[in-house]
Amino acid sequence: MSDFVNGFWSYFIGIIAVGGIVWCLWLLYTQRRWLGERPAAGQVEDTGHVWDGDLTELNNPVPRWWTWMYLLLCVFALAYLVLFPGLGEYKGVLGYTTAGEVAQQQEAQREAVRPLYARFEGMSVPELAGDIPAREVGQRLFLSTCSQCHGSDARGAPGFPNLTDGDWLHGGTPEAIETTIRDGRHGIMPPWGSVVDVRMATDIAHYVRSLSGLASDPVRVFRGKREFGNYCVACHGVDGKGNQALGAPNLTDAVWLYGSSEAAIVRTIREGRNNQMPAHKDVLTPEQIRLLTAWVWGLSNQPGAPAGVASAEARQ
Ligand code: HEC
Ligand code: HEC
Repeated sequence: MSDFVNGFWSYFIGIIAVGGIVWCLWLLYTQRRWLGERPAAGQVEDTGHVWDGDLTELNNPVPRWWTWMYLLLCVFALAYLVLFPGLGEYKGVLGYTTAGEVAQQQEAQREAVRPLYARFEGMSVPELAGDIPAREVGQRLFLSTCSQCHGSDARGAPGFPNLTDGDWLHGGTPEAIETTIRDGRHGIMPPWGSVVDVRMATDIAHYVRSLSGLASDPVRVFRGKREFGNYCVACHGVDGKGNQALGAPNLTDAVWLYGSSEAAIVRTIREGRNNQMPAHKDVLTPEQIRLLTAWVWGLSNQPGAPAGVASAEARQ
């Protein structure tokens, strides 16, 4: 409980919690004259309230068992507030937190699966990529953690890169892939709409399409090339081949993250793109990340590796 914006709320909660218990005890105290009293039958006072002519409200004392229950609950509440965090920022004598409990469970889970991964210790990524048991574990991890974005065949979708084509936004070495999975990636193409109008963006789009041999208008290509030099080379390079350090794609190949149509390219130029691969270091263990790295690396570096996907689908 440390996310209060200021100390006031900590006191606010503490005072209400303790105040409630003190109020209950005070209430019992004011009624002490009665506690345990057992008036003889027929001697019970009435409150003087009568309804429907003969329905009288009696003023019976509180039963003894009820008084004890009340007192015990107050003692329980006080003991709880001393032991556990319940009073604003006070952490409790036991130092218990639910986050701590989850961390403990996760650690226990990691310990339990550790022996399964021991077999793969000391193997290089290419070795793991060629090892059938390692590939099966990698694939299962991929299907459960990654396929919702990259597809169960890892071939991606618009905005989600294809991981089987050997073309990389951020690099295809084992180290680069491992970094991508562990720390995530953020692909940011700034929007140019405020300086590049639709006509100019269309010229640039024709030039971009010409880089990979797609149909384009030579006059627009000529004009677009000049503007490309002004706005785009810083990230995509003079030759348009991109820059993996910035996550800027190669624009000269047949691989498109958002599509090769004039409209898609104009939209990218004018509105920019902001795309994120989430970090997985908190959801996967280092051993799991390594097996995934090997599996993903194998998709484009080990001939036959993609067959693992097909056979898994056949088995399901
Ligand atoms: C929430 C969706 C999402 C999930 C889940 C996800 N990814 Fe990604 N991933 C992306 C996006 C989006 C990108 C592209 C980022 C960019 O545009 O720079 C990406 C990029 C990548 C890249 C870099 C590709 C390149 O060309 O450099 C790799 C490798 C990758 N993901 C692997 C994985 C693996 C392995 C998992 C499972 C542990 C995974 N991803 C889970 C959305 C996701
Ligand atoms: C600051 C660096 C930067 C600049 C400047 C920049 N881009 Fe980009 N561009 C990127 C990045 C990064 C991506 C990938 C975005 C993503 O991962 O979603 C991208 C993506 C693209 C794409 C999508 C490619 C695909 O595969 O679908 C096109 C097209 C593109 N840029 C064209 C241009 C053009 C044309 C210009 C000049 C007007 C330009 N970019 C300027 C960084 C930049």
